[in-house]
Amino acid sequence: MSNYLETNSHYWNDIIPEYSAPNVESFIFRFYGRILKFDYGIDGTAGENVLDFGCGQGGALSFFNKLGFNCFGVDIAKNDVAYAKNIMPGVADQLMVIDPKPVPGECYFDEKMDIVISIQTLDFLTNSDFQTVIKNLYDNMKPGAKIFASMNGWDMYYRNHAQYVEDGLWHVEFENGRVSYDIYLNFIKDKTEMVEKFNLFKPVYVDYYDSSFREEGSELRYTFFGVKE
Ligand SMILES: C[S@@+](CC[C@H](N)C(=O)[O-])C[C@H]1O[C@@H](n2cnc3c(N)ncnc32)[C@H](O)[C@@H]1O
Repeated sequence: MSNYLETNSHYWNDIIPEYSAPNVESFIFRFYGRILKFDYGIDGTAGENVLDFGCGQGGALSFFNKLGFNCFGVDIAKNDVAYAKNIMPGVADQLMVIDPKPVPGECYFDEKMDIVISIQTLDFLTNSDFQTVIKNLYDNMKPGAKIFASMNGWDMYYRNHAQYVEDGLWHVEFENGRVSYDIYLNFIKDKTEMVEKFNLFKPVYVDYYDSSFREEGSELRYTFFGVKE
C-alpha cells in the first residue's frame, strides 16, 4: 500500500487537473445555517478561523470567506489550490498545497482553528493515515472547536467496482464512458463506524447525504459533526 497515495495524487493532479467544483454545495450552506448559526450562533461576524482539509477549488471556503470567516485551506492538488487562491486573493497565503503523506504532528498554520471541515477527502486515506490526519486536525483546533466531515458510505456505488486491499482501503477501478477511475478509497459501514473514526471528538450529529445522476448509483456519504472538548 506504500504507493496508494501516489496513485490518488496522480488522479487529482494529472487525470482531472481541474475537478470543477467552484461553488458551495448545499450540504455546506445547510450545515452553516442549521448547525453553526442556529445551534451555536456562529455566523462569521467574529471572523472565526475555518480550515478546509481537502479544499479543492475553494467552493466551500469562498462561501465562508464572504460571510466574514478567516479561511484556511490545504489540498494535494496544485491546480485546484491555485484556482482557490485566485478566487480568494485576500487569503491566498492561507491556502496551501500539502504532501499526500500525512506527517504526525503536522502544524498546517500558526493559528488554531475554530472550525474544521473536510468534505469527501478523508476517505482517500488508509485507516492508519486517517488516524494521523484526524489527530493533526484535532491538535490544530482550539478547545470547543467544531468539525464537520463527510466520508463514503458503504452503499456508495464505487464500491461495486472495487476490490478490498487492506487497512480500510479499496481499489476502485472502472470506466463507464463518463469517468475512468483508478483510485484508492475508504468506505464507512454505518454511523457507528463514523463515530468510532471521529472518537477524538464529542459526537453531536451523525447524518448523511446522497445523490444519483445518470442512474449510475448511490453516492451516499455519512457526515459527522462534533466538538473538541
Ligand atoms: C472529491 S474532492 C473534494 C474537494 C472539496 N472538498 C469539495 O467538496 O469540492 C477530494 C479532494 O481531496 C483531495 N485529496 C485527496 N487525497 C488527499 C490527501 N492525501 N491529503 C489532502 N487532500 C487530499 C483531492 O486533491 C481533492 O481536492
